[in-house]
Amino acid sequence: MLDKIFLFWYSLVMLFSGKDSIGLDIGSSYIKAVKLKEAKGSYELDLCHLHTLPPELIVDGSIIDSLRLVDSLKEMIKTAGIKTKDAAISISGHSSVIIKRISLPEMSEEELSESIKFEAEQYVPFDIDDVNLDFQIIGPKDEPGQMDVVLVAVKKDIVNEYIQVVKEAGLSPIIVDIDSFALENMYGINYEIESGKNIALLNIGASTINLSILKGGTSVFTRDSSLGSNLHSEALQREFNITYELAEKLKRGEPVENVTLEDANAIIESASEEILSEISRSFDYYRSTTAYEDISEVILSGGCALIKNFASMIAERSGIETKIAEPFRNIKIPKRFDVSYIEEIAPMMAVAVGLALRKQGDR
Ligand SMILES: Nc1ncnc2c1ncn2[C@@H]1O[C@H](COP(=O)(O)OP(=O)(O)OP(=O)(O)O)[C@@H](O)[C@H]1O
Ligand SMILES: [Mg+2]
Repeated sequence: MLDKIFLFWYSLVMLFSGKDSIGLDIGSSYIKAVKLKEAKGSYELDLCHLHTLPPELIVDGSIIDSLRLVDSLKEMIKTAGIKTKDAAISISGHSSVIIKRISLPEMSEEELSESIKFEAEQYVPFDIDDVNLDFQIIGPKDEPGQMDVVLVAVKKDIVNEYIQVVKEAGLSPIIVDIDSFALENMYGINYEIESGKNIALLNIGASTINLSILKGGTSVFTRDSSLGSNLHSEALQREFNITYELAEKLKRGEPVENVTLEDANAIIESASEEILSEISRSFDYYRSTTAYEDISEVILSGGCALIKNFASMIAERSGIETKIAEPFRNIKIPKRFDVSYIEEIAPMMAVAVGLALRKQGDR
C-alpha cells in the first residue's frame, strides 16, 4: 500500500482497538470530523462535519474548559450522527510537541528504543519524564557510522487532557497523532510525489501554524508557531468595536451592520502582516538550519486558506508558488453530500483527512 517512507506514521498512544475509526481534529475554533471508507486502495468519503467551538475553550493547545469541550463534542457526535466509537485525534503547538531530525551513531531500532530517553534529553527543552517519546529511523547518513532519526516528544499532560475529554464524550481515542504528520498523510494520498521538489505544507488555523517541509515526500523540517487567524478576528473586533461572532462573520465575507466588507478586508489584510512575517521567519529558519534545496511550492490549508487573497499574499511575499490544499482530491465524494459545501470547507479538513487515514496498528 502506501509507502512507509513518505508517510510518517507515529502512534504515540494506542488504547483501544477497532476497525472503523474517525479522524477527529480538535482545533481551537472548530472540531473537524472525517470518516473514510477504503476499498481496493481508493477512498470514499463517509462522513464530514465541521462544528464551531466557543472561543477560549482551548488556548495555546491546552484545554482550558474541559467540561464545555466535552459538551461540544457530544453535541457534534449527535448532530453529525457519528456512530463510530474509535477516534484518531492529534495535537500540535510549539509548547507541547517537539519534532527534531537528529543524527545518531548507527544502531538497531531495539537499541535505540532502549537509549532514546538518554539520547533525547539534550534535544527536548522539557523534563524528559514529562514527555512521551517516539522516533523514526530515516536511514543512514552520508557520514559513515551515522544515521538520521526523527525524534518526537509530546508533553504527557497535554496528551492526557485530550484523551480524557474524548473519552468523556463517549469515544475511544485509539491514536494520538501530530497535526504535521496528519498533513503529510493527507498529502501522501492526494498528490504525486515529485522527487526533485521540496513542498511546504502550511496549515494555518485560528491560533497555530503547522509547517512541514517535504523533500521527495519525506519530511525534513517541521515547525509550529502560536499565531493564526485569531489575529484577524482580534483586529476586526478592536477596529469596529464588535463581538467575536461578528468578526468571524466578516471574515467569512458575510455582511455586518455599520461595517463595509471593503473596510473589513483592509483590516484583515493589515493583520495578515504578522502571520506573513512569521511564515518568512520559518522559511528562513529552514534555509539556515538545513542544507536542502529551497522550497518549490507551498500547499496552504487551515481556515486561513479561506481568507480572500491569503494564498496570493504568501506567494507574493515569499516568491514561492502557493496553492490551496485539496484534501479530497483523490477521495470520492458520494452524491448524498453537498459537494459545493465540502469543497468550500475542504482546506480546513486537511488534518482531519490525515487522521481519518490512520488505522489501528499504524506506527
Ligand atoms: N470562510 C472563511 N473565511 C475566512 N476565515 C475563515 C473562514 N472559515 C473559517 N475561518 C477562520 O479560520 C480559522 C479556523 O481555521 P481552522 O479550523 O483551521 O482552525 P483550528 O483548527 O480551529 O485552530 P487551531 O488549529 O489553530 O487551534 C478561524 O480563525 C476562522 O475564523
Ligand atoms: Mg487546527
